[in-house]
Amino acid sequence: MAEVEKQVDDMKIEENKNDEEEDDVNPWSVVSKSDKGVDYDKLIKRFGSTKIDQVLIDRIALLTKQTPHRFLRRGIFFSQRDMHRLLDRVEKQKPFFLYTGRGPSSEALHLGHIVPFIFTKWLQDAFDVPLVIQLTDDEKFLWKDLKVEEANRLAIENVKDIIAMGFDKDKTFIFSDINYIGSCSEFYKNMLRVQKCVTFNQARGIFGFVDTDCIGKISFPSIQAAPSFSSSFPHIFGNKKDIPCLIPCAIDQDPYFRMTRDVAPRLKYPKPALIHSTFFPALQGAKTKMSASDPNSSIFLTDTKNQIKNKINKYAFSGGCATIEEHREKGGDCDVDISYQYLTFFLEDDEQLEKIKQDYTSGKMLTGEIKKVLIEVLQEVVATHQENRKLVTPEIIKEFMTPRKLKYTF
Ligand code: TRP
Repeated sequence: MAEVEKQVDDMKIEENKNDEEEDDVNPWSVVSKSDKGVDYDKLIKRFGSTKIDQVLIDRIALLTKQTPHRFLRRGIFFSQRDMHRLLDRVEKQKPFFLYTGRGPSSEALHLGHIVPFIFTKWLQDAFDVPLVIQLTDDEKFLWKDLKVEEANRLAIENVKDIIAMGFDKDKTFIFSDINYIGSCSEFYKNMLRVQKCVTFNQARGIFGFVDTDCIGKISFPSIQAAPSFSSSFPHIFGNKKDIPCLIPCAIDQDPYFRMTRDVAPRLKYPKPALIHSTFFPALQGAKTKMSASDPNSSIFLTDTKNQIKNKINKYAFSGGCATIEEHREKGGDCDVDISYQYLTFFLEDDEQLEKIKQDYTSGKMLTGEIKKVLIEVLQEVVATHQENRKLVTPEIIKEFMTPRKLKYTF
């Protein structure tokens, strides 16, 4: 397979120009200038990543012998770095591992939070690889008005939701930074190595730090970088330093990994490969993503059937027309219609989705009707999650979070 990716895609880590016209996308805020949401093609250019094309999707299908996940089929995971290089390894039957994470800032997760986990679970099954999941309770302590104990407690609370996604216990290690880092000197050594490679000037360029930011924030990126390196997990990888990882994440996390990819060669480690998702839009429209701090912008995994129904009926932004007559005549706009957007994330059946798109666009289907379909789909997703979460006992949590060998031979 030809090497189709640019080798120097992300070398210029000091640049972070953000003029007035651009969407604001960084690990701490996502605000688009347009009602249609973030311009993802522009973002790919600005970040220097590569668009996921049909060639890559076909190659994943071929290698995994799986139907590509709906997130791939529908461009929800839309951008990548070094995927072809990673698949070259898979072809040669060389191993890799998956790395993803979550910043535990709230008690309950919302639908947007589970998008990367749904996809990571699919990747774990499709490629049959080990997975590490980082809970950045330290990050949330530094950024939010939270006590360190409270951030740590939220991490453990969120683990239940993550385990309920169905990860393979024998192949998954979940860790809280606060609990794990102090116990693993190899992890800490990698943090130190990264810290020594990145100047304050570069960190400011990438993350936009300002003089009044506490110094904890400035060093934090080294903590999110460290799990990209296999030597940070000696209990899993022994003394192997050269096993690359693939990181599924929403594209707002990319700055961390641009930095990681920049320093990796200097540490003689492989660069992490990345696969990026779009954002899960807020109920009110695609200008912003769902936010856990605004309950009316989000559907939570703890919501009841009635809450889901009421929120969608009351808040889901409609691309339909004001009156039935007008809607029948002109039809609805799926590009801005939140119910349709959500269905692209959660309705599995491609044919049914296409039919809904046609009927809604032509005016045959009304806003109330598309909302009804969405309500049923999401009630089912959330109810299934709640059932699975109930089965997660303290013993199971402990198993996932204990540093140990995973069932995988390297
Ligand atoms: N910073 C991320 C958040 O706030 C959490 C995180 C840590 C993460 N490591 C990651 C997310 C790797 C994706 C991939 O949610």
